[in-house]
Amino acid sequence: MKRRKILKLSSGALIALPACSSKKGDGGSKIGKHGASSSGYGGHPVRLGANTQYRPPAYMNKGLRNPNMNLPSHFSGKSVTHSRGLSNQPYVAMTFDDGPHPQNTPRLLDILRTRNIKATFYVIGSNVDRYPHIVRRIVAEGHEIGNHTYTHRKLTALSNSELRREMRRTEDAIVRAAAVKPRTMRPPYGALLQRQRSLIFSDFTYPTIMWSVDPNDWKRPGPSVVRSRILRGAHNGAIILAHDLHAPTIDAMPGTFDDLLSKGYQFITVSQLLALKGQV
Ligand code: NI
Repeated sequence: MKRRKILKLSSGALIALPACSSKKGDGGSKIGKHGASSSGYGGHPVRLGANTQYRPPAYMNKGLRNPNMNLPSHFSGKSVTHSRGLSNQPYVAMTFDDGPHPQNTPRLLDILRTRNIKATFYVIGSNVDRYPHIVRRIVAEGHEIGNHTYTHRKLTALSNSELRREMRRTEDAIVRAAAVKPRTMRPPYGALLQRQRSLIFSDFTYPTIMWSVDPNDWKRPGPSVVRSRILRGAHNGAIILAHDLHAPTIDAMPGTFDDLLSKGYQFITVSQLLALKGQV
């Protein structure tokens, strides 16, 4: 067994060094006159080899990041329903429904953050009341919140006063949680009568936001299918529907985002997409 040298650090900790080569000039880096080589262990230079065990985290290897999108988000159009933005710019809006979820939503937020992507979350009011801290984090990290009703019922069967109550309770919960007012709504199951859309637009100023790309992720086809459906359906101005309620959807997102970024798409929020449409 080779004898090992012991190096005492300034902190007092002791570390064992492998026995040095006795040959001079073997490529090792030299430590200065007043360093360890002159005092600690007999004048031999210390060789600091590369750390071959280190691997950077996976997300650092890809390095795909959405640019900073400093676009206005104030919109004032007349349209009651939108399902896409303009087709002449490579912008897409990623939307996530039915959260916040205590595990999936924070995991999604981490994935979004490493890529500088801002998304829009259509939250259910009862979930907002259960997990207000997650709603605060969504807002603090620059994402947008939309109204997805309080109880996630099919709205077409509701009276006007029940409909208003679904919207109002959810808006109040969001304001309580994160001190922001939602600016758009999405109906559960995409089901909302034309007169109901008009009522919500006039009473709450929410346009109804549908979508142009639907991977049917709620049927749980598996992450790779969700990813390929979104990539295949993506287009300029796309509003992409997904659900942060389902773990496999979150599993699909790193690859989905990287696919879209590498195709040249840039992610913006629904309000930014509407603001670009102007007075329509
Ligand atoms: Ni929903």
